[in-house]
Amino acid sequence: IPVDPFDLVIFGGTGDLARRKILPGLFRRFCAGQMPEGSQIIGAARSEMTTDEYRQMVSDAVAEFGGGLTCEAGTLDAFLNAVSYVTTDAKGDGGWVELNGKMRDDTVRAFYFSVGPSLFGDLAERLHRFGMATPESRIVVEKPFGHDLETARALNATLAQHFHETQIYRIDHYLGKETVQNLMAVRFGNMLFEPLWNAQYVDHIQITVAETVGVGGRGGYYDKSGAMRDMVQNHLMQLLCLIAMEPPAKFDPDAVRDEKLKVIRALEPVDWHHIVRGQYGADKNGPSYRDDVEDPKSRTESFIAMKCHISNWRWAGTPFYLRTGKRLKARASEIAVVFKDAPHSIFGADAGRHRNVLAIRLQPNEGMTLDVTIKEPGPGGMRLLDVPLDMSFAEALGPDAEEAPDAYERLIMDVIRGNQTLFMRGDEVEAAWAWTDPLIEGWQARNDVPKTYDPGSSGPEDALMLMHRDGRKWREVK
Ligand code: BG6
Repeated sequence: IPVDPFDLVIFGGTGDLARRKILPGLFRRFCAGQMPEGSQIIGAARSEMTTDEYRQMVSDAVAEFGGGLTCEAGTLDAFLNAVSYVTTDAKGDGGWVELNGKMRDDTVRAFYFSVGPSLFGDLAERLHRFGMATPESRIVVEKPFGHDLETARALNATLAQHFHETQIYRIDHYLGKETVQNLMAVRFGNMLFEPLWNAQYVDHIQITVAETVGVGGRGGYYDKSGAMRDMVQNHLMQLLCLIAMEPPAKFDPDAVRDEKLKVIRALEPVDWHHIVRGQYGADKNGPSYRDDVEDPKSRTESFIAMKCHISNWRWAGTPFYLRTGKRLKARASEIAVVFKDAPHSIFGADAGRHRNVLAIRLQPNEGMTLDVTIKEPGPGGMRLLDVPLDMSFAEALGPDAEEAPDAYERLIMDVIRGNQTLFMRGDEVEAAWAWTDPLIEGWQARNDVPKTYDPGSSGPEDALMLMHRDGRKWREVK
């Protein structure tokens, strides 16, 4: 769907995120014909640079991070023509008049704050003082949105001084993933699942986001965050919300976000016995977590597993097990809804336990599997077997699945369209911190030391025990 012509200013336009994600993403949208003629992309950053030099940087970024995108000859040049650069001082007045001079009246204005949160206030204030912000213009901010409830509140308050909530787009790139949006389609587009989607029929839910990468060069940031702040407070929480929320009356920004907020507010505090924190050790493929962050005493977790409960009518008594970590066996994100046993086995005790499991694979190999119990073929009597009904998006949808825009592309286009459905609202972010903070404070007060786990494993043994104690087990991460 085409969007209206836009002026997009990327503050932090020479930074890592801009080079890796935003600029290559915009180029892909350009190639797909979605960036209308007359749109401009303006890089703004402190570095002294000419527009020609910036265009060269953008071209290099597309070559390096564009995923081997091939477009018709001349397309890159046409894209670069829409790109310019203004040296801008976020904390001073340099560059702002020139930047303002580039803005046009009849065009959608979006300002991407691809900078640290300490600059949000400075940018917001200058956008107003220099007359660049209009009531329709939008700002885009990235995670981390605060470090805890207090800092998140302060950030929200700072932005609110200059922008209305309907102008603020807080990115959680998980919401831009095709498969994450598909969760809503699966739940609310089918008659099959929703009647069973509750504590009466669901035994438990597992949410796994496993990564093979370590913290690498991001140690400085990561060691102050850990898996809880880096992944659970935002990405896993969003997945949990989409899986657990009530059906919104319509697919509209506030209807969806109201329902997500109710889930977060209904989350019970987690008992510390139900939290397992881990840190990866070293192996021949790489250094340990503590070496990566250059702190031999670090107590920050690179892995976390936990059992959570949602206190509401739909989910009372059904545990949600969450886990995420770095340097694990495989890169795999999956949500598994494990249904209860049939109430009575007519096949007798020998038939064993058979359960339906709906597994939604978010990445890679996106798709869904539904384990169904059938009769084991052959003359051996009535023996049962679980077999998967397996659907891979790539096979089912062919090239359409491959051409889907990546998370950033989709979210940036939604900003231009003015659609906030896939962005976090201020109260949602605060509610997520309000749940996370006491858990972090709890382990800090206990001086909890994360358990070391082997790189390439599924995390610490204790995480397996968290499930085993309940007579359950994690699905294998493959
Ligand atoms: C980011 C985290 O938000 O998400 C990273 O800061 C993490 O630590 C990344 O690696 C995972 O995103 P994806 O899209 O690769 O699953």
